[in-house]
Amino acid sequence: MDYYNRKMLLKSTGRYIAPWLVKNDDLAQWMDTSDEWIRQRTGIEQRYWVPEDGDIGASDLGLEASKIALERAGWTPEDIDLIIFGTLSPDMHFPGSGCLLQHKLGLDTTPALDIRQQCSAFLYGLTTADAFIRSGHANRILFVGAEVHSPALVKADRGRDVTVIFGDGAGAACLEGVETDEPVGVISSVLHSQGEFARSLMMPLPASRITEEDVREGRHDAYMDGRNIFKTAVRKLPEVANEALEKAGLSIDDIDIIIPHQANLRINQAVQKSMNIPDGKMYNNIHRYGNMTAASIPVALDEAIEEKLVDKGSTVLFLGLGAGLTWGGVIYRHF
Ligand code: ACO
Repeated sequence: MDYYNRKMLLKSTGRYIAPWLVKNDDLAQWMDTSDEWIRQRTGIEQRYWVPEDGDIGASDLGLEASKIALERAGWTPEDIDLIIFGTLSPDMHFPGSGCLLQHKLGLDTTPALDIRQQCSAFLYGLTTADAFIRSGHANRILFVGAEVHSPALVKADRGRDVTVIFGDGAGAACLEGVETDEPVGVISSVLHSQGEFARSLMMPLPASRITEEDVREGRHDAYMDGRNIFKTAVRKLPEVANEALEKAGLSIDDIDIIIPHQANLRINQAVQKSMNIPDGKMYNNIHRYGNMTAASIPVALDEAIEEKLVDKGSTVLFLGLGAGLTWGGVIYRHF
């Protein structure tokens, strides 16, 4: 096997969105917010949550998205060499949701790897999968990004800045090694993290150092310094896009479509403006789903494929930034 020529093909994708449609106006029953504020500040019109008494975890949504991706790939679960599961809202604190999904797929001992890169999970996951495939360590990988945020969102004024932006859903991708000399698959990848800013977007508990005061003070709530994250994203995303383009020896004109993380429509519009990206080249679906963290990019990719915006020969730039902080850019040419 000539590993040098082994390229990663995005063989298929699938998505599964939680069933409960929550419109912006619905949120006003729990907190002081409005449709106007949410639309203006974020571009979000609605999101989907799991039912309140549903006992549904990230691995359940991930399972449904996986079934669709597997069927489209023509794979059975036994064809999978490795599962990579991205989530910040795992079913349990441990073990990882990848193991739970592995069992739900009816598998016996297939390896499963959880990654905790939040909104950058697809970028880290794709890069990890590409490395496993190029090294010959695995040939058929199932990536799943799935989130069940809603049970942990504070449905009161106290949490309104965070609660109104998040939705529940899952995206899956079947990734396969293919021998070819063509310049296809992952063309370049640039990943970053900066733990210095870990506390600007975090959920401090559960953690290995828990005090009684932590429990009393409700440190299970997510905290986000939205303004700073916003400013950082608007600066870092074009920067990392240019790094990925330079590494690939490409210019922005060579990119057919940009599929960015869906954290805030205004962030994506600012990136589009600062990079002079024409309308129609930047895929956005945040108005329908809100921010689904690890699921956002794979769900957007699945929709873009359905809409024929990603086809054979398309060069796609994936971009994202989130908690960690982590951020990155991956350029992929479909084949
Ligand atoms: N409804 C009504 N008013 C609100 C709400 C709400 N839901 N939330 C906050 N406000 C108020 C604030 O209290 C504030 O009021 P004040 O001016 O009286 O103090 C005012 O609205 C403005 O608040 P800001 O926080 O400055 O609003 P901003 O325009 O920055 O929007 C937002 C907030 C949407 C969170 C934005 O900052 C953002 O999108 N940040 C980036 C988020 C991000 O990218 N996160 C990373 C990915 S997520 C992950 O990794 C898990």
